[in-house]
Amino acid sequence: MPLASARVALHPDIVIGTIDPRLYGSFIEHLGRAVYNGIYEPGHPQADANGFRQDVLALIRELNVPIVRYPGGNFVSGYRWEDGVGPHSDRPRRLDPAWRTIETNQFGTDEFMRWCKAANTEAMMAVNLGTRGMAEAAALLEYCNVPGGTAWSDLRRKNGAAEPYRVKTWCLGNEMDGPWQMGHKTADEYGRLAAETGRLMKMIDPSLELVACGSSGNSLPTFAGWDARVLELTHDVADYLSLHTYLGKGDGWGSATLRTWGEYQAQPLNMEWHIRSIIATCDHVQAKLKSKKKLMLSFDEWNVWWHSNSPTYPKFADWSIAPAQLEDNYTHEDALVMGSMMLSLLRHADRVRMACLAQLVNVIAPILTRNGGPAWKQTIFWPYLHGSLYGRGESLHVAIDSPVYDSKEFGPVPYLDAVATRDPAANTLTLFAINRAEKDTLPLAADLRLLAPTARIIEHLVLESADSQARNTEAAPRAVEPHKRGTAKLESGRLSAQLAPASWNVIRIQL
Ligand code: AHR
Repeated sequence: MPLASARVALHPDIVIGTIDPRLYGSFIEHLGRAVYNGIYEPGHPQADANGFRQDVLALIRELNVPIVRYPGGNFVSGYRWEDGVGPHSDRPRRLDPAWRTIETNQFGTDEFMRWCKAANTEAMMAVNLGTRGMAEAAALLEYCNVPGGTAWSDLRRKNGAAEPYRVKTWCLGNEMDGPWQMGHKTADEYGRLAAETGRLMKMIDPSLELVACGSSGNSLPTFAGWDARVLELTHDVADYLSLHTYLGKGDGWGSATLRTWGEYQAQPLNMEWHIRSIIATCDHVQAKLKSKKKLMLSFDEWNVWWHSNSPTYPKFADWSIAPAQLEDNYTHEDALVMGSMMLSLLRHADRVRMACLAQLVNVIAPILTRNGGPAWKQTIFWPYLHGSLYGRGESLHVAIDSPVYDSKEFGPVPYLDAVATRDPAANTLTLFAINRAEKDTLPLAADLRLLAPTARIIEHLVLESADSQARNTEAAPRAVEPHKRGTAKLESGRLSAQLAPASWNVIRIQL
């Protein structure tokens, strides 16, 4: 039986919130081939004099990534940032216990700042609150942001950067609630350290925006309790609380048992619940402290991550340099889940101000490379690109009435997932819509009579595939890519479209 129509209504002036451009941020960690042989590969035919791969940079510029978190991730909790500055020949090799690799330190803070400039992006730095503490965080801040005349700032100048980097956004550690983290702490231990480190950092540079570590996953027993306690201790100094979520087809972390199509497509509802729970937690603490300060959220790690957790993923030798870790080769169905996660971020644009797709190159990333070879776009590149290009401006309230299917984990799940954004600068409206039905077309009827009568469709982009397991590879880098043959029509303020089975849709309207 064909699916009933999904109905959507919206008003272009009824706004959830302004979308902070930093919602389309990403993440580069010293992990696997993200840095080495990802963004940095001296000797590659496409590398410039800095060793930055120009083919990779071109793809990143195409994505228009506003901010990139660095240098980790779990890596940062053991990192000595001083190892990564100064003459390359003097930089020590160190063990990275987080990922059981050797870190050569040939790429460090100065290279990252130069790379950010080339990528047309801004740096979001994380400090080590695992094995280190306040003094080292303050030293790194001094190195980055103080113009000169002090030991650390003069060292930066000596290393070739006369101007300070003026990094505005800083993460106070990474996933400190996780028992896997080097220097893992209780909420009280972390909360006090983060509060004092943040206070010291703001004494040096009051213009900073600081992110405190929230829970690193909502399945941890400490979820939400950790967040509440950390917030109580850091409320004065933190501007954002971090959230992390990875979704996968595996029925549990590393499980070889895979979810069905419908259960997998429903997983973004978990992210929706996560965001709502953490907003409630922030507001609870604000009320408890009788504070006027409303905490914002930084969803600084999110993505689909499961292929490389599977028991069949190749093992790499311990203590090797830049092995192929976490290189998920994403399928078409993964792109729909990832797209739906991005729609959750947009639906909460009033509170989620920053977000980092984890990660950017090779490591659970929209871009894959081969050492000495080409770079290509994964399936998830496309929803990320569309969001970043067309999901700017304001996120709108959208009323949705969709047929549903039953899920074991979530109950009734709407076939339609949709978000609308309006960009006042370009005077455009974009309707992002996912049809979660694997085999059925979903008729869409949107009441847009409140738009100007001159509104017209610019294009209807569709990412679809007859094979839900299709992937982009070096041999077939364009196996999954969008086309512009979507069926959307706008007549007398009524939009209609047939959303292809298992499809990601971007309907762009000129107002
Ligand atoms: O992004 C990969 C890893 O996932 C990060 O290092 C860590 O913060 C998270 O657990």
